[in-house]
Formats: sequence, structure tokens, C-alpha cells
Amino acid sequence: MGNNSIKIKGNASVANVSCGFDCIGYSISDPGDIITLSKKDMSGIDISMSGFGFDSISSNPEKNTGGKAVLSLLDAIDSQQGFKLHIEKGIPPGSGIGSSSASAAAAVLGANELLGNPLSLDELLIHGMAGEAVASGGFHADNIAPALFGGIILVRSYDPLDILKLPVPDNLFSTAVLPNMTINTKEAREILPKNVPLKNAVEQAGNLAGFTLGLHESNFELLGRSMIDHFAEPHRAKLIPGYNKVRQSALDFGAIGCGISGSGPSVFALSNSLEKAEEIGKAMVNAFKIVGLKSTAYNSPIHTNPPKILD
Ligand code: HSE
Repeated sequence: MGNNSIKIKGNASVANVSCGFDCIGYSISDPGDIITLSKKDMSGIDISMSGFGFDSISSNPEKNTGGKAVLSLLDAIDSQQGFKLHIEKGIPPGSGIGSSSASAAAAVLGANELLGNPLSLDELLIHGMAGEAVASGGFHADNIAPALFGGIILVRSYDPLDILKLPVPDNLFSTAVLPNMTINTKEAREILPKNVPLKNAVEQAGNLAGFTLGLHESNFELLGRSMIDHFAEPHRAKLIPGYNKVRQSALDFGAIGCGISGSGPSVFALSNSLEKAEEIGKAMVNAFKIVGLKSTAYNSPIHTNPPKILD
């Protein structure tokens, strides 16, 4: 395709990972969005879309996560370059597995590449976050950072931004089960209380520390007992029909831990083999079936790289 056009895959991601509300997330291999970006002679961004749920997404670049991320980048480097941006949605919007971040990460990486890489990968994050904010109404990085860098990411601080890569143990696998419904991230954030009781904050801090140590030591038992969420799950579980049964089915089938993926409705589980991830996925799909919801399971290792350039 030459230097004027690029095709790139943005990966789905699982945010919060139970104990890390707004500060832990990991990237998964599938599903993903395919972004095609081409330079054009005039300034401005022309957006077209296809795939899952694309008709619910704005094609106005200011209101589109991919478009906004690229606009933010162009503004930062004072460039008038225009682009045609096609987004093929492999990740349904409102799924809780980082649909908006996948588009934003791939679009901003693709634009930077076509412009001759004026910014480093680290410097792209803030522009990806500007894109993500269009969809979520909040400035959080626990989907966009793993979508951009790959692996398991800790957002230690938002101000100043401090993003840390955590170790990915061998034999750690992810299942994400997406029921046939959507949850709007903005709304799922609005239902959360602005303050949490000190007791809950202490338990969450302990679990988050336990989780990161569990990753460092590849101690899956410690990971599992740390994967408890006192911040979001108690308020969001009711948004997902059958959530408690779906979670229990994953644990019954040997999941290390299980929780709501991002703001839902996807539910994720961690396990120690791909076969186990597949079995857990089937069990969770069956549990959703009992409450009348069709669902799709995505089983994969943790994806440890930035969005892949396909062409
Ligand atoms: N941490 C964010 C939230 C992720 O839970 O609202 C949104 O996908």
C-alpha cells in the first residue's frame, strides 16, 4: 500500500480486572478492529465504518474515538494533514472489551506511522485517551494503554500520567464472554458512588497489591484470591442478567478468578491453559443461556504487543 496508506489491527482489552478499577487492564488477541488510514490532499478526517454495530457510532471525527485520537495527535504536532479513516468493527460497541480503545489505539498509531513517527509510542497515549474519552465520558486509560502497548498495564497515576507494564506470567489465558446486549460506559460510570468507605478502599488496595505480586511471582492462587472488586462490581452486577451465576460457573470450571470486563456486559475469567479457557468459556455461555442471553466467548492468551500493522 506504500507510505500513503496503512492497515492496522486494534485489539480488544479487559479493564479493571476486578481489583484494579480504572488502573489495570490487559490486551487480548481477539476480537479486534481493522483500521485503514489513507492520507488525503485536503485537511480534515473523512470517516467510514463497517462491521459490528458501526451504525451506532458517529462518523463526525470530533465524536468518533478513532477520529478524535487522530485530531488530537495532529493538533499536538501542528499538522494540517488530512486522512480517510475506515473502521471495520470486529468489536461491538458497548461490549465492555475496549471497543472504542481498539479503534483509537490503531488509528493514532497508524496516523503517527504515516506521518513518519513524529511521536513515540508513549507519547501517543494521551491522544488515544482523548479518543477514548469521547465514548466513555471519562479520562481513563485502563483500556487504551493495554490496547496501545499490549500486555498487562498498571496506571499508577493519572496526574502525572504514570503507566507501568506488569509481567505477564507464562500460561495465563483469558476468556471474555460477551452477551447479546450493550452497556453504555458513560452510564455505567454514572451509577458509581463518588466516595467509597475506608474499609472497602483498604481491601481494594490490599487486593491490588496482591494481584501485582501474583503476576510477578506467577502465583495464580494469589491472583485468584486478589480478584475481588469492592468499587464497581457491587453496583454494576445488576446491569448484567445472570452475572452471579456466570461468575460462579467460571469458578466451578477452574477459573483463577472472574469478574466484569470493564463496565460490562462482557464477563472475563483468567485461567492457566487455553483448553481451560475454552471450557470456562463454554460454561459461561451456558450460564448466560439459562437467563435467555446468547453470548460469544473469546479465548486467548494475553496479547503482548502494540496494534499490528497488517499492510
Ligand atoms: N475502568 C473503566 C470503567 C473501563 O470501569 O468504567 C471502561 O471500559
